Amino acid sequence: MEIKNITVLGSGIMGHGIAQVSAMAGYNVVLRDIEQQFLDKAMEKIKWSLDKLVSKEKISENERDEIFSRIKPIIDLKDAVHNCDLVIEAVPEIMDLKKKVYAELDKIAGDQVVFASNTSTLPITEIANTISRPKKFIGIHFFNPPLLMKLVEVIPGQETSNDITELIINFVKSVNKIPVTCRKDVPGFIVNRLFIPLVHEACYVMERQKIQQTELDSAVKFRLGFPMGIFELADFTGLDVIHKATVEMHTRDKKVILPHPTIEQLFNEKKLGQKSGEGFYKYSDDKYERIPLSEELAQKCDPVQIIANILNNAAWLVTNNASDIDEIEKAANLGLGLKKPLFDTAKEIGMQKIVEELKKLSNKHGTFYEPDPLLLSMC
Ligand SMILES: NC(=O)c1ccc[n+]([C@@H]2O[C@H](COP(=O)([O-])OP(=O)(O)OC[C@H]3O[C@@H](n4cnc5c(N)ncnc54)[C@H](O)[C@@H]3O)[C@@H](O)[C@H]2O)c1
Repeated sequence: MEIKNITVLGSGIMGHGIAQVSAMAGYNVVLRDIEQQFLDKAMEKIKWSLDKLVSKEKISENERDEIFSRIKPIIDLKDAVHNCDLVIEAVPEIMDLKKKVYAELDKIAGDQVVFASNTSTLPITEIANTISRPKKFIGIHFFNPPLLMKLVEVIPGQETSNDITELIINFVKSVNKIPVTCRKDVPGFIVNRLFIPLVHEACYVMERQKIQQTELDSAVKFRLGFPMGIFELADFTGLDVIHKATVEMHTRDKKVILPHPTIEQLFNEKKLGQKSGEGFYKYSDDKYERIPLSEELAQKCDPVQIIANILNNAAWLVTNNASDIDEIEKAANLGLGLKKPLFDTAKEIGMQKIVEELKKLSNKHGTFYEPDPLLLSMC
């Protein structure tokens, strides 16, 4: 099967970016939303982004016009999926809404059409089981912003056929992205499974070590090879996104996160991070702003519990056949911006020390911290 025509459902933050990336790779794209004003806004954003690429001499004016003309905004669903090979769905992260959209789509789209969901946290298999073609349903998780982020997680559901997984991996490569397959439909897939629990853990570490946010963030940045601090990254991601992901992941698997009340509290207080002017930190406006961190501050925090938490989740993915170490390192590098491989950092700190820390935490705070068998085998 060959993919030529793509329909992207939802023209919001992710949808318009996925449409642009696909059109830039030569695909014919239909962008579908429920109101004309949303489509107009999305097309304006795409135009703005393409103009910027022209001004940076990344593409010519001619290429810009060709790319733009390959994207057709359409409201009517029937028209939008007529002739398409692949539907990429990027409607809001609400299970009932997604199921409704797929039920409608399933009736209208030809049997050959493949459905790929950009969901960050919802179970792929659960959605797939509501339609008549679970073999042709898959997760395709682009990161924000799709134009800049190289990583795309590909998540087959229980019934997804190998051919479709292969097709989507090749599609991801064809749009100049790097696919990482999460072989099982596990809560959080790979990147969110590493990142979301870490935000909660960072809150616990701050409490237990009686330290400041900037001290923990500095340690993470200067001693663990993160591109920025965890609280900084959480504010950048948005506390609404983190809260939603927490609820979805924790509902599916209690072992994946030890929820810290601060996340829910910040969410309830509408302290959503940079976009609302305050999250873990305060910002002067809603523009991207870095927090001053330093090597000196980094010495005030021992980040062993942080690395222990992320490694334990990484190890869980391997032990449960959802991924392997190379793929996890690729995902952590491209999705979280980690400059140093996780398992290299672990070796430097000492796997024995990390496992001892997990055992200590497990004795004190419960089974959540029990070290994964893979880590035990690496001591
Ligand atoms: N924002 C992120 O950082 C991010 C990153 C990765 C994945 N995701 C996932 O991508 C998906 C979309 O997220 P987003 O941030 O782009 O949301 P968004 O709210 O910015 O956009 C969603 C769009 O879908 C439209 N929509 C609603 N119902 C629709 C329907 N029936 N048909 C077509 N369009 C419809 C809305 O009008 C809106 O324009 C979610 O599943 C989310 O979890 C988001």
